[in-house]
Formats: sequence, structure tokens, C-alpha cells
Amino acid sequence: MSVPDRPASGGRVCVVGSGGREHALATVLGRTVDVVVTPGNPGMVGETPEGHTVTVTSEPPEELDADLFVVGPEAPLVDGLADRLRAAGRLVFGPGADGARLEGSKAFMKELLADAGVPTARFGVFTDVAAATAFLRTLPGPYVVKTDGLAAGKGVLVTASLAEAVADVEAKLSGAAFGTAGRTVVVEEGLVGEECSLLVLCDGTRLAPLAPARDFKRLGPGGSGPNTGGMGAYSPLAELDDATVDELVERAVAPLLPVFAARGIDYRGVLYAGLMLTAEGPKVLEFNVRFGDPETQVVLPRFDGDLAGLLAEVAAGRLVTRPRFSPEAAVCVVAAAPGYPDAPRTGDPIEGLDAVDDPAVTVFHAGTRLEGGHLVTAGGRVLGVTALAPTLAGARDRAYRAVARLSWPGMVVRPDIAELAAAAAAATAEPNAQVRTAADPREETVG
Ligand code: AMP
Ligand code: GLY
Repeated sequence: MSVPDRPASGGRVCVVGSGGREHALATVLGRTVDVVVTPGNPGMVGETPEGHTVTVTSEPPEELDADLFVVGPEAPLVDGLADRLRAAGRLVFGPGADGARLEGSKAFMKELLADAGVPTARFGVFTDVAAATAFLRTLPGPYVVKTDGLAAGKGVLVTASLAEAVADVEAKLSGAAFGTAGRTVVVEEGLVGEECSLLVLCDGTRLAPLAPARDFKRLGPGGSGPNTGGMGAYSPLAELDDATVDELVERAVAPLLPVFAARGIDYRGVLYAGLMLTAEGPKVLEFNVRFGDPETQVVLPRFDGDLAGLLAEVAAGRLVTRPRFSPEAAVCVVAAAPGYPDAPRTGDPIEGLDAVDDPAVTVFHAGTRLEGGHLVTAGGRVLGVTALAPTLAGARDRAYRAVARLSWPGMVVRPDIAELAAAAAAATAEPNAQVRTAADPREETVG
């Protein structure tokens, strides 16, 4: 590729990972470049409508040749993959191990937020049951107990019961529940409010937000059941217009930049702020150092432009493009294996993919593999079905219609993804305020 700081159209991008997020990345990158995914999954392989190829390989990223590397999951980032690739002269989207510690250690993240003055829940960091219990007793409840280390989204307990919180502290600190990841815990006051996921590109010194999304972390309807990696998502959020998003970036993300600089962290990738919109204003629940999953499956299909060029700008430390998004709404519904999140059963044959024929629907593969030429389940979250439509209700309807065609024994689907937001939008007769313009002829006919 001839232009080193903008290796977009016509080049080759390597995506690291194998889930639904990486499938969405490959699909949208594949509008302008050929993509190779390592290790990838069978659903990704093919040619994009724009004529670019998506291939998968079991070769490790260090062995591959590409103009840009985009690292999907947190574990390889925490493990220093981006540093190793950069040391070999590669252009990489994703922070080094120093920046990735933000997600690798919740205690470190909380320390950075405190340094930066970013609003967050009151907290303490503990390795001792008695001290953690004493701190829990000072909180009004609900109570939150988190493993310090990575736990695939499952290391967080939110409970109204002090006894349950104390028991969870004991299980985590003893190593029984999460091994070494739980030997240090973060105990927090429980916040109340609506959550949103704000993904913000960072080239080391500049920030650019992507469209906000909301994901559904609990397994069951109405937020019942255990926390999962995410059972669905939608974008945009009616309550967060561009000006509000910019304010959130200023309050919750921008203060990190001087703290990074002071610590010598050159952060090039995406900062994912998990925010709670509380009565006292927005507060950061967590930072992740990678794209959200399944948020990516609703944010990127709405992205309007050359994603490879944009991510290359970030990787090169020359972010100049402000990302733009289609006014359409996107809804993603995840179909999971029975037993998810604790002990998903795998190896079940997946039926019905050929019957999904809606051009506004994309089925992203998350946990699938080929067995004897047939696609079978191979993980907790198996497929993510994303639909685009002018309204949230329309996108929701199309996504669930497509999901209804899919099946395997015991398939688990949360029935209420985007339900409240779609109903609220419909009730205000402003189906999707962001698709309306003054020139929209419907404007005159709405009371
Ligand atoms: P985290 O991995 O820190 O994002 O936590 C996972 C989920 O737990 C969040 O998306 C929230 O739903 C919930 N959670 C985390 N921290 C808090 C908190 N301080 N108050 C209420 N809920 C929380
Ligand atoms: N959807 C939550 C996450 O990606 O961490």
C-alpha cells in the first residue's frame, strides 16, 4: 500500500479474533479492503458486495503480512500483542499492554479515573475479606463486587443483599470463583440509571466518538438472570444526540488523555466507556480497551465511510476524520447456546441460516464451527442477528423475524432487546427523530 498513514482502499487488513465483533469488523472493513481474520470463524469467509475477499487463517498474527492490524478482543491486548506487532514495524489499531491495563485491572482503571477526575461509583480495592466487608457495611446498597482481573464479562455481582455481597467477596478472594483474577476485588456502590456504551476512537492525542449504543447484559427478559457478555444491542439512542455525546466525551473520556500522557501511555485504538446515566449525571462503570460485543454489530453497520482508512488514521496517530453514521436504526439480537453463560453446550447443528433472506439483515457468527461440512454451535453466544431499518421498531421486527428462522436444540434468545426504546419512540410519534429532517414531508402531517 502506497500511503503509509492511510492504508485503506486496495490494501489488506488483518483482524485478530473469532467472534461476532470480529465478523462485523471484517464485514465493514471489507467494503474497501481485503480482510484476513485470525483465527476467525466459518461465517466470515467469502466475498463482500464491494468485491473484496474475507479469508480466515490459523496462522498467528505475528506471522501474517498486512497493511493494518486490528485487534478485536481484550486478552491479546493485555498480553502485549499490539506491542509485539509494533516492534515488528506493523501499523496496529489497539493499545499496548500499558493502555490495555485499563481493562486488565479494574483497580488500575479506578485509580486512573480518580487521577483524571472522571465521575465513577464510590469504590475500594481489597485483598482481605474483613476490610472488604467493613467497606460494604458503609454503603447504602445495592452492592457491587468485581474481580480485579479479566473474567469474560462474568466477574461482576450486583445485589441488594449485603449477605450475598459478602459471600461473593469470600468466593472471589479465596480464588474459588475466578482463580487469580478474583484474588483482588473492587467493591463499589451500586448506581441506578440507564446504561449506554460509548465507543471513542483515540489516536494518542485526539478523540472521535462513534454512535452510541445500548447493550443488554443480563440473560433474561427485564434484566433478569445472570450477567452475560451481552444478549443484544441497539443504536442510536434517542436520548443521546450528537451534542450530548460530545459532552459525555468531554466529561468521561477526554480527562484520561493528560493522565495517559503523564504515564507515557500512547493509546491508539478504541476506548469503550460503559456509562450509567444517573440522576446526578453520567458516571463511568468501566472502561474497555476494545470494541464492544455486541455493540459493534449495531454501530459499524451504521458507519458511513471507509472504516479501514479511519482505523489506519487512528493507528498512525493522525486521526482527522470525524466518523459519520447512517440515520437508520440497528438492532442486534444474540442467539445463544443452552447453558450460557455458565456452561454452554456446544456441537449442536445450526438450522435455518439459508432461510434468512431479508437484505436488511446480517447474521454475524460468534461461536460456530464446521463439523463434517455442517455448521454447529461452538460457543456461548452463537449468532448475532443485526437488522437495519428507518425506525427502531422496524429494525427490531426484522431482527426477530430472522431469528425465528434459526434453530438448534435449546437455543436461547432474549425476547425484549430494544423493546422499551422502540415503544417509547413509537409513542412519541417521532419514530426515529434522527431520520427526520425539516424537509421531510411527513413532518407537516404530524400533529
Ligand atoms: P462492568 O464489567 O464493570 O461493566 O460491569 C458489568 C455490568 O454490571 C455493568 O454493565 C452494569 O450493568 C453492572 N454494574 C457494574 N458496576 C455497577 C455499579 N457500580 N452500579 C450498578 N451496576 C453496575
Ligand atoms: N457488551 C459488553 C462488552 O463488550 O464488554
